[in-house]
Amino acid sequence: MENEDSKTARLHDIQGEVTFEHVKFGYTPEKTIIHDFSAEVKPGQKIAIVGPTGAGKTTMVNLLMRFYETDSGEIRIDGIPVKDVPRTNVHAQFGMVLQDTWLFEGTIKENIIYSKEGVSDDDVIKACITVGLHHFIKTLPDGYDTVLNDKASLSEGQKQLMTIARAMILNAPLLILDEATSSVDTRTERMVQKAMNQLTEGRTSFVIAHRLSTIKDADLILVMKDGDVIESGTHRQLLAEGGFYADLYNSQFETKQMA
Ligand SMILES: Nc1ncnc2c1ncn2[C@@H]1O[C@H](COP(=O)(O)OP(=O)(O)OP(=O)(O)O)[C@@H](O)[C@H]1O
Ligand SMILES: [Mg+2]
Repeated sequence: MENEDSKTARLHDIQGEVTFEHVKFGYTPEKTIIHDFSAEVKPGQKIAIVGPTGAGKTTMVNLLMRFYETDSGEIRIDGIPVKDVPRTNVHAQFGMVLQDTWLFEGTIKENIIYSKEGVSDDDVIKACITVGLHHFIKTLPDGYDTVLNDKASLSEGQKQLMTIARAMILNAPLLILDEATSSVDTRTERMVQKAMNQLTEGRTSFVIAHRLSTIKDADLILVMKDGDVIESGTHRQLLAEGGFYADLYNSQFETKQMA
């Protein structure tokens, strides 16, 4: 990791505007993954990134969070180039709900508060009511103080709801959601979806979506293939275009209809 002492720019109280300008990137110099990506995201917008496996969705998130540096072009948050900002300050702007939900050995409360300081019991309960976990937690013998370990575990759906509650508590201005693909039952899926919608409300959000049905309301959908954004627009616009997205959407819809 390079020394970042000379980086004087800071992100503070940001609105959540994100600009990608002619971003070019490859993990190795021989193989460019992102060729020329530009997009302008307004504060509070929901951006969906879709596309087949290996298309470059996670790579975009890696660049946004500065896990990697762009080869050329620029990413700006509220007009400030992220390359001028120390990494920790960039990371502090993001809440994340990732595919592989992770919890540590500790109480439910500790897992939800995670690294945030000054969180009251009331805040924790409020978040759990919002995601629909409160009643379940109340049925546990130790409630919010129940220790999660090999003996006391949670279902996949409950784990997802926990990480959403955690992101609510964190209350970061920017959000990255990597939609879970694990099969939870329909009712749980609806709960997770509802909780995710509450979380993205009024927050600039990047959603890596696997089921296209969940991102129909996105302000902008970026369709990626082989490292490039091949189509972009709203759900309606992309369907009307009748291109790659429309094919993808229709094929998912047909599978659902037949099942
Ligand atoms: N750390 C890495 N080093 C080298 N190449 C990588 C690395 N991570 C990903 N790639 C390559 O970059 C390309 C884009 O990968 P990426 O992980 O962004 O795809 P994705 O769209 O997120 O796919 P998935 O839907 O499977 O998660 C792929 O060709 C992949 O092999
Ligand atoms: Mg990925």
